[in-house]
Amino acid sequence: MTRLPQSVRSATAGAEVTELHPNRGVSATMNRLVVISNRVPLPSAGPRAGGLAVALDGLMEKRGGLWFGWSGAVSAHAAEQPVQVITHGPVDYATVDLTADEHDRYYNGFSNGVLWPLLHSMPDLVQYDRTDAQIYRDVNARLASQVAPMIGPDDLIWVHDYHLLPLPAALRAQGVANPIGFFLHIPFAAPDMLEAAPDMAELVVGLLAADLIGFQTEGDLANFAAAAMALAGAVRRPGNFLEVAGRRVLLGAFPVEIEPHEFARMAEAHARKLAVVRLRQSLPGQTLILGLDRLDPTKGLLQRMSGLRRLLETQPEWKRRMTLLQIAAISREEVGTYRALRAAIDRESGNINGDFGEPDWLPLRMISHGIDRATAAGFMRTARVGLVTPLRDGMNLVAKEFVAAQNPEDPGVLVLSRFAGAAQQLDAAILVNPHDSDAMAEAMVQAMTMSLSDRKARWNDLWGAIEHRSPLSWGRMFLAALLRGAVRGGKWELVEDDRPPAAMSG
Ligand code: G6P
Repeated sequence: MTRLPQSVRSATAGAEVTELHPNRGVSATMNRLVVISNRVPLPSAGPRAGGLAVALDGLMEKRGGLWFGWSGAVSAHAAEQPVQVITHGPVDYATVDLTADEHDRYYNGFSNGVLWPLLHSMPDLVQYDRTDAQIYRDVNARLASQVAPMIGPDDLIWVHDYHLLPLPAALRAQGVANPIGFFLHIPFAAPDMLEAAPDMAELVVGLLAADLIGFQTEGDLANFAAAAMALAGAVRRPGNFLEVAGRRVLLGAFPVEIEPHEFARMAEAHARKLAVVRLRQSLPGQTLILGLDRLDPTKGLLQRMSGLRRLLETQPEWKRRMTLLQIAAISREEVGTYRALRAAIDRESGNINGDFGEPDWLPLRMISHGIDRATAAGFMRTARVGLVTPLRDGMNLVAKEFVAAQNPEDPGVLVLSRFAGAAQQLDAAILVNPHDSDAMAEAMVQAMTMSLSDRKARWNDLWGAIEHRSPLSWGRMFLAALLRGAVRGGKWELVEDDRPPAAMSG
């Protein structure tokens, strides 16, 4: 018999809760899910950028609940403004603006100028400023005070990503006693790397106010456990628990998923659309290699170009027979490292085409604006090779999307960095070290020349790794673990329940 709290029964029963309860403790319906993330993809805001929005949107559309975070807007009197609430389907979106200074220091400065590169093990890109760190803490405290009055006594709280590391402690300081889960969408670096940010010990302590802390991979979990022991005096207990200051915190690895069947249908439908047909027609007799990324230092774009350069230098017979289409959507342009990277990419793409191009053929098409997800799905289906080669990545959902987009009768080949979290599940891809340009060139050739039977065999393995999973199954596993963690922490009571545990279904 499975013993689960009463709340799990309604939590797994579906998205029955859509009503917003502004006063704490006033007739809150059982087990509403409250998601808190910096980025809230408001239905009006157009295409979603990044893995967090893709995964959480998929979950919230099905599960329902309250989604709180930044509106994406900057305004002068952000702190005094009331929380804006928009209801769309089963989701209440509650958002707040940031001031220009908060946006500059909390989002650009500390989140993306310090934590992003540091947690991706790229300390040389860290641009530390003590005031940025202070404003980061202040914004977290403000967000906690704005969301706390909206939380009912039976709500499950799920905080997301590196922008909000201090939020669990800030919510506790507001008197929030509910189970709090935290999920980190990006990697967690080894403890000695973390010392580049003087605030890291404090941030780890703040995060430990959660009941469950989730990671993309076991490696990230192990790094965090080591940091919690080294920086916060935590002690490891059996069953992935940490004991710290007399309480227990559960750790878990929960790889983020996509909706594979939905994405496959979208890819099939859009492969016949004009944009895809035109792309195909523009590549007569050529093999298409496709890269689709945010323009970000972690994505290994310059290293990818070095791999292409090496391919053209060592195997010039590929001239006119292949094209790399790289869509590198501009992102976080106000951060200096991103601007510098864009300039370097523009320079090197010009150099590659200048050095190897012909009057009637260019090896590289570089596009710096994003395209909508449906067109991207169609492009993925028509490409022979998907190049997903980050230097470091929490998961990388583009890798999973590329697999889902393929025609099972004539699938393309995924070339995947071994440093992406997705490589743990997608080990039937051609795995590469993106720093090794000879290996990158070899992997591209291996992918372009692979026989149909080998392509099918690899694709079947890859599809098998993702086909029964979804954002909903990911969310269910996380929430079931959250309740387990909170029960052990003594906050929830167990009741008898003969339902199977929430698991990899849906
Ligand atoms: C990654 C992060 C997300 C973030 C996304 C897009 O996937 O894990 O938290 O939302 O990138 O980045 P942005 O800075 O535009 O929100």
